[in-house]
Amino acid sequence: MLVLGIESSCDETALALVRDGVEVVGSLVASQVTVHAKFGGVVPEVAAREHLKVIAPMFRQLLDSSKVRPTDIDLVAVTQGPGLIGAILVGVAYAKGVALALERPLIPVDHVHAHIHGAMLGVSGTEELEFPCLALVVSGGHTNLYLMRSPVHFKLLACSIDDACGECFDKVAKLLELGYPGGPRIEALASHGREGAVAMPRMVSQRSRLEFSYSGLKTFMANYLRQSGQMTDQAKADLCASFQAEALGQIVRKVQEAEKLYPEAKSVLVAGGVAANQRFRQLMSEHVGLPAYFPKLDYCSDNAAMIAAYGYHIYQSKPDDRAAWLSHDWDAYSRYDFAKALNATS
Ligand code: KG4
Ligand code: ZN
Repeated sequence: MLVLGIESSCDETALALVRDGVEVVGSLVASQVTVHAKFGGVVPEVAAREHLKVIAPMFRQLLDSSKVRPTDIDLVAVTQGPGLIGAILVGVAYAKGVALALERPLIPVDHVHAHIHGAMLGVSGTEELEFPCLALVVSGGHTNLYLMRSPVHFKLLACSIDDACGECFDKVAKLLELGYPGGPRIEALASHGREGAVAMPRMVSQRSRLEFSYSGLKTFMANYLRQSGQMTDQAKADLCASFQAEALGQIVRKVQEAEKLYPEAKSVLVAGGVAANQRFRQLMSEHVGLPAYFPKLDYCSDNAAMIAAYGYHIYQSKPDDRAAWLSHDWDAYSRYDFAKALNATS
């Protein structure tokens, strides 16, 4: 089954064709990083307009480069949320148009869960992957730990009570004036530094044994830099190495804890932008007992192959819902869950 995936939740427009949830036939990503760089962050209105500019030409380019005709597509999957509402609407509207024109089912996909499928794309055939498994999404917006019973069952075990891990990398990089995105720049500097050079704080107060927290580490870094004045290149590298070791070490410790709490877990899937960090991969393989699967570098950050792969599994899990998939009777949702918030206050 050939699935078209469409992703437009933030500052990347991405389209991909994936066969049977595992084989990537074609994958295109157009990053808006340079467009937003001059504003110091992603501007939602600008992001939506950029998606609108490139989405149709990218679809044609994807078909041409993959040597696929529109009618070869069996299913369309699109990011429904969370993300920037204007940006998501562009992808959803385009996906609805393609699905209606081709009379194909359309699967709305949760972007955060889809990241995990980026890691599964690295495994040759999800049959090889044994469930239940632990799954981590470590990105700029989320630090979530799940227990998965199948490719479509996600039980959220823990998330960050404040900043996300990638967000902390970005904020610390900004304090060090390294530019955006911060993660890769800190990793590069850290590779020349000594991890134990600067003692880092460890999070103390938690409501649950698995929760993550990054604001203490960020505040420590802000205070340290304020007090240290001018630093040599080596001192900066040492600081980055020490920070990175603790930012990633916290995740490793939580996964070790989850291994004890959920002994039924057979593997760990790690996804999201921070999964690109090589030191993270090394620490996980050294300190976590379960086999860990990371995405290929192309599928760590936002992409549409993960959307298509997850859409395929959702469709396979509910083949009787074909009529519902053809109705397109749903819409985009943003990061904020208005319905839940209204219920909570009423
Ligand atoms: O998954 P992603 O592309 O976007 C979101 O959905 O948030 O993740 C982006 C995040 C950024 O915070 C970026 O700094 C971080 O992933 N990141 C890294 C590395 N590469 C990207 N963090 C640490 N080390 C890296 N090599
Ligand atoms: Zn993402």
